[in-house]
Amino acid sequence: MKTVIIYYTFGGATKREAERLAKELNAQLYRVKETHNRSLLGAFIPGGLWAMRRKSVSIQPLSVDLNAYDQIIIGCPVWAGYPAPAFNAIVQRLPNGKRIELFLCSGGGGSQKSESGTKALIEKKGCTVASYRDIHTGVKPGKMKE
Ligand SMILES: Cc1cc2nc3c(=O)[nH]c(=O)nc-3n(C[C@H](O)[C@H](O)[C@H](O)COP(=O)(O)O)c2cc1C
Repeated sequence: MKTVIIYYTFGGATKREAERLAKELNAQLYRVKETHNRSLLGAFIPGGLWAMRRKSVSIQPLSVDLNAYDQIIIGCPVWAGYPAPAFNAIVQRLPNGKRIELFLCSGGGGSQKSESGTKALIEKKGCTVASYRDIHTGVKPGKMKE
């Protein structure tokens, strides 16, 4: 099965997990970046609020053709209990009918309260959620050095 891992990271933890998974599955890896260079403060305000409201954010144009893959794995950090806003931007770009696996990286609080709503968003796009994983990274909020 042709698989792509598409992920957003702010602090680097989701990137590490995505890279590990890409090696394990021999999958293509693609990092989504926001258009705006977000600060740590900007991650909390308004980022956390936008996450809770399932608001999307402007991202750099995707240079990957998601249509070319049978399976799409999406990785994203948890902000305020919800996937970070870049997740919503990824979901908007999902082609119809794909098999989706999700992994959400949180400091430790998990994403239980938003899980069913997150799955519903993907199903609304005509895709199937094949798996959902909460990863507790133990990483404190911080911005990754590029
Ligand atoms: C704005 C913001 C909000 C966060 N909210 C939560 C939260 O609600 N629950 C939690 O367990 N961790 C929370 N965290 C911690 C991150 O989810 C955790 O550090 C995760 O590993 C970050 O992934 P990343 O390094 O790929 O960005 C938050 C971090 C940030 C920056």
